[in-house]
Amino acid sequence: MNSFGRLFRISIFGESHGKSVGISIDGCPSGISLCAEDFLPDLSRRKSGAAGTTPRVEKDLPIILSGVFNNKTTGAPLTIIFENQNTKSNDYLNLYDTPRPGHADFVAARKFKGFADYTGGGHFSGRITLGLVAAGVVAKKIIGDIRINSEIKELGGRTDFEQVVQEAVNNHDSIGGIIEVKATGLPIGLGEPFFDSVEAVISHLIFSIPAIKAIEFGSGFAAAKMKGSEHNDNFIAKDGKTETNNAAGINGGITNGNDIVFRIAVKPTSSIGKVQHTMNMNTNEMTDLEVVGRHDACIALRVPVVAEAVTAIALADLSLIYKGIHK
Ligand SMILES: Cc1cc2nc3c(=O)[nH]c(=O)nc-3n(C[C@H](O)[C@H](O)[C@H](O)COP(=O)(O)O)c2cc1C
Repeated sequence: MNSFGRLFRISIFGESHGKSVGISIDGCPSGISLCAEDFLPDLSRRKSGAAGTTPRVEKDLPIILSGVFNNKTTGAPLTIIFENQNTKSNDYLNLYDTPRPGHADFVAARKFKGFADYTGGGHFSGRITLGLVAAGVVAKKIIGDIRINSEIKELGGRTDFEQVVQEAVNNHDSIGGIIEVKATGLPIGLGEPFFDSVEAVISHLIFSIPAIKAIEFGSGFAAAKMKGSEHNDNFIAKDGKTETNNAAGINGGITNGNDIVFRIAVKPTSSIGKVQHTMNMNTNEMTDLEVVGRHDACIALRVPVVAEAVTAIALADLSLIYKGIHK
């Protein structure tokens, strides 16, 4: 459904052109300092406006509806919403009948029997990731000394980012990208051996970000071509530090004290200004579609802060589980 987490439990809601989008967090410990301003730095990193991102610019001001009293979390469910103020729903009228190839229009129409809000992508919009970023801000306060950073490694398979983005915009096309996320300052012991391995929990949340196609931890797919003598991370200190980090800081699903490192692949935006083939679900005929409206030509430009946020959410949940069981 639309909730995730064992102790730090998030429920996500909203539609792109509805009244608001947001997140509700249950299981947030009490006494954490929190006010609306705390969210602004990360929210501004997710904002559009730069070349290759959607011209739809929203204020994205967080409204804390519940769970905070005198600037401290109360321990009751914490709900944060963001109003949608800049919507142009008419741009989406034709998508009710003619779904965008590569987007969720077709599956949403079929699964929800024509009742899904399709304007602006509805509940499938990248705008819903605002709630993830907000929960990430709270999660970062729970994980203490753990620091999470991300870096765009490639866009459209290249490293001349401005140029490759501009080419996509000029060609009315879109591009994907690769983002690397690193978490440092980890304790030994977060994560469980099987279903709640660190890789599983992070991956589960990473794939909640729309448009993610792949994730690889440490050596990733290259591990299949390496020998054990190359792949093993030799210990260099009794605190468990290793010479290399092919394991990405995780053995047996559990953090080993080295950095968690993973890379994710973001697909090229499906809404492009080129003619594509689709169907008319009303007449049952095949037809052409030219997508209008405001879209990100390169979603990967906006994903780094979202990827950091979901990593923080995963580590916050695993930290609370660790404290609950082992301390
Ligand atoms: C930050 C962000 C912004 C996005 N912007 C757009 C967009 O402008 N146009 C679009 O078609 N898809 C956009 N997407 C991707 C769609 O939400 C996504 O492709 C769609 O929900 C289908 O999901 P899937 O790609 O995971 O299959 C964006 C995703 C994110 C994370």
